[in-house]
Amino acid sequence: MKVFVTGGAGYIGSHTLIALLAAGHEVCVFDNYSNGSPVALARVRQLSNCDMEVVEGDICDEEALARAVADFAPDAVIHFAGLKAVGESNDIPLRYYRTNVTGSMNLLGAMDAAGCGRIVFSSSATVYGEAQYLPFDEVHPVAPTNPYGRTKAMAEQVIRDWTLTTPGASAVLLRYFNPVGAHESGRIGEDPQGIPNNLMPFVAQVAVGRRERLSIFGDDYDTRDGTGERDYIHVVDLAAAHLAALEFSGGVEGCEAINVGTGTSITVRELVDAYARACGRPIPFDIVPRRPGDVASSYAATDKAERLLGWKPKFDLDAMCLSSWRWQSDNPDGFPLAK
Ligand code: WQD
Repeated sequence: MKVFVTGGAGYIGSHTLIALLAAGHEVCVFDNYSNGSPVALARVRQLSNCDMEVVEGDICDEEALARAVADFAPDAVIHFAGLKAVGESNDIPLRYYRTNVTGSMNLLGAMDAAGCGRIVFSSSATVYGEAQYLPFDEVHPVAPTNPYGRTKAMAEQVIRDWTLTTPGASAVLLRYFNPVGAHESGRIGEDPQGIPNNLMPFVAQVAVGRRERLSIFGDDYDTRDGTGERDYIHVVDLAAAHLAALEFSGGVEGCEAINVGTGTSITVRELVDAYARACGRPIPFDIVPRRPGDVASSYAATDKAERLLGWKPKFDLDAMCLSSWRWQSDNPDGFPLAK
């Protein structure tokens, strides 16, 4: 199948490319490298021993995007490109709406013009907001509490309405919980710009000596050990979920939201302890006040993913930490700048 992948040079996109190429799909990547690396794409080619088309471009550039989609004439699209930092979205909401919502509308318009009616969309558990019950299932109310989450919920709604007016269209909205880890080779992985917002990349940078100490945001939550608990999912399991969603989208019409998590929760302290085991050294940390906007607990109901996609996660927390550590220790400063 010919698959057009926006944001394929990013963390989850690059891991999904490996799975797509291994499955024999023909791929075209569309990326502006704002949060991805051309070096990651070069390494994907090496790891897959396959080539792929790459178009450097921004999903906010409607004409360039439409031209790239028309030229490639895909059977399906996987849409990763977007901005994804909750804190940043509070500071620059308009940029988040322009990129995540208008960019998605540009893509759907390009797909219509090219006669492509299949999309897998990179959404997020952030759309749920505060838990009214746990685990989160796909019928939990969507009530995001920050501009980033609102752009994801809005893009989901745009895609849902698009399927209603596009004959034969199918869309799968994958609501990620907390993606972590790296490809077993250690050649690609998570390489956040600047100070990592997320827990595991920060812990990884402490372990490799790039950061002094981890700040644990609060230990007074109503959880096993007082620290926040989340549903961490190995990025390679997440990539496999995209392949399963792609296959599923070929046999159905309409729009399905599907959680992608493990269904189990891990606290911050438990993750730190697992990372210390993986890297063989203690992770120094301080307990500091809670981070505004954080919730105590978030984890997924996973039966819909298993029922519709036939997908189940394979990797446990130790595997997540070991793979992250292999990437970080082999690439202490992340991807080198492209020459
Ligand atoms: C996890 C836990 C923190 C950093 C966010 C987005 C979500 C998704 C994943 C895009 C929490 C604690 C963290 C640190 C800490 N991204 N923590 N010290 O907030 O669950 O989800 O990233 O889709 O949309 O909301 O992930 O990794 O930031 O935090 O103590 O330096 O680690 O309080 O309990 P989060 P996270």
